[in-house]
Amino acid sequence: MLGLLKPTDPAWVQAAEADLAGLLSDHAHCEIKAAQSALSLVARHGGEAPQLAEPLGELAREESKHFLEVQRRLEQRGGSLGHPEKDEYVVALRTAAKHNRHDGVPVLLDRLLICALIEGRSCERFRLLSEHLGDGGLRAFYRGLMASEARHFTLFSNLASDCFGEQATRERFAPLASREADIADRLPLGPTVHG
Ligand SMILES: [Fe+2]
Ligand SMILES: [Fe+2]
Repeated sequence: MLGLLKPTDPAWVQAAEADLAGLLSDHAHCEIKAAQSALSLVARHGGEAPQLAEPLGELAREESKHFLEVQRRLEQRGGSLGHPEKDEYVVALRTAAKHNRHDGVPVLLDRLLICALIEGRSCERFRLLSEHLGDGGLRAFYRGLMASEARHFTLFSNLASDCFGEQATRERFAPLASREADIADRLPLGPTVHG
């Protein structure tokens, strides 16, 4: 699914459902980070790649809207937003890309492909939630978000191809996807979107 090489262990859904407020708090932070990272890409690379500004500005707006939707559901369940935690999955993915980046691989290409992989993994996880959660309202909510994440995966993949060509994008995607699969596989299962 969406370039992912290893599926999530289905037991993750039970770990997530055991602490729904924890999951929603972590998810709310993921949406904030997604909005921030879209804008940070424009801030750092909008000069060399002006075609990023429009779609990523729109994306930041959409991710902010998702944040508010998740926040509302968190409050409805009596939960509140926890402190922002480091997302071990994202940190490990960025570190792996950095260590694996040989001369000539543009940083922007890696940043776009890492965003694509994060969106792809979130899409897969939201699909699991949309199929297996006990709460029908939340299942429907995650079905909608799963579709958004699939679109975002495509957006980042297409931006990478637009900026660097299809071949370079494919060649760089393969090793990053392989590292992503190892990272997702080794993280303990918990009530977090990427844990
Ligand atoms: Fe989102
Ligand atoms: Fe997204």
